[in-house]
Amino acid sequence: MKLLVCGGAGFIGSNFVRLRLLEHGNAVTVLDKLTYAGREENLEDVAGLPGFRFVRGGIEDADAVAEAIAGADAVVNFAAETHVDRSIAEPDAFIRTHAMGTFVLLEAARERGVRYVQVSTDEVYGSIDEGSFTESSRLAPSSPYSATKAGADLLVSSYHHTYGLEALICRGSNNYGPFQYPEKLIPLMVLNALHGDPLPVYGDGRQVRNWIYVEDFARGIGHVLEHGAPGEAYNVGGPDEAANIDVVRRIIELTGASPDLIEYVADRPGHDRRYSLGSEKARALGWAPRVRFDEGLERTVAWYRDNPAWWEPIRSGDYRAYYERQYGRALGGRLETPD
Ligand code: NAD
Ligand code: TYD
Repeated sequence: MKLLVCGGAGFIGSNFVRLRLLEHGNAVTVLDKLTYAGREENLEDVAGLPGFRFVRGGIEDADAVAEAIAGADAVVNFAAETHVDRSIAEPDAFIRTHAMGTFVLLEAARERGVRYVQVSTDEVYGSIDEGSFTESSRLAPSSPYSATKAGADLLVSSYHHTYGLEALICRGSNNYGPFQYPEKLIPLMVLNALHGDPLPVYGDGRQVRNWIYVEDFARGIGHVLEHGAPGEAYNVGGPDEAANIDVVRRIIELTGASPDLIEYVADRPGHDRRYSLGSEKARALGWAPRVRFDEGLERTVAWYRDNPAWWEPIRSGDYRAYYERQYGRALGGRLETPD
């Protein structure tokens, strides 16, 4: 199978590309705009493999999409702006990529009659105090990030309903693991802990997320691509839920940092309290998560500790300005090396 993977230079996309090239023998073309979150370094180890091709461009650019989709049997779309805090500060790119970009890609898939998988998120369902969302739960997004992702999902469904496109949607819960940009909770806390920087916990820290190790999500998306029914959405959630403050405490233990680094800061506006996904439908296709949170977090901390060459350029570049804007303080910088 020949895949077009859009957004394949980002966190989850690069893990998916690695899995499909190495374990499934797929040929893969990556189309990626290389925003701040997309990095060719994420694909360094597989870029030389036969069957791999990289096209730099946006999914909203019809010419770039036409070049990239040539010869593909299926499209998997990861390309997105993905950080809720950035969507609150500057929603423009979220609207462009999720609305216009998804439309351009869908048109290209429709013209060529290829299967299409939209990678989406549990955040389209909004917050839930008790129980878990199923695929038939109402979409009730609360941030510009989740609202534009929900809009993209509806457009994808309409292309199946109206034009008969073989389109599927795969909604994941919070991912963590290697190659995640350190604006998200886990890599941010791990790198700050390793550097002895403060650990900024929003509000009371009791918000709950359902954590999935990135390889489990990547396998789930592959499963939906191969075995899912066109027109259907599939939830792909992790095996464990945890409150943010408990995640931070666990990272402190794993890094040997001081608990005094925890700093409660102003809450995120419109902060969703809890996400929870029921994944019975994906499990019925034969997929199941393999990595429990404790084990995955240990692996993730080890990966960041062992790969300073990956994050050093990030922590010394534009990220510093982002950090200052978001947290109202400068990022520290001295790497502490606990045993
Ligand atoms: P990421 O921010 O690490 O990567 C996004 C990638 O998309 C980057 O490589 C970026 O350069 C690229 N991109 C952005 N705009 C583009 C455009 N207009 N055209 C082409 N490429 C573009 O994100 P991620 O965490 O890997 O998320 C990937 C997908 O998975 C997203 O659709 C996201 O909504 C979804 N998702 C993420 C999570 C999570 O916890 N990270 C959970 C569930 C679903
Ligand atoms: P995040 O990784 O941004 O994912 P999402 O908002 O998409 O779930 O945040 C996960 C949780 O961690 C969320 O409840 C917000 C919280 N959080 C903090 O408390 N401090 C931080 O510095 C960050 C980035 C997130």
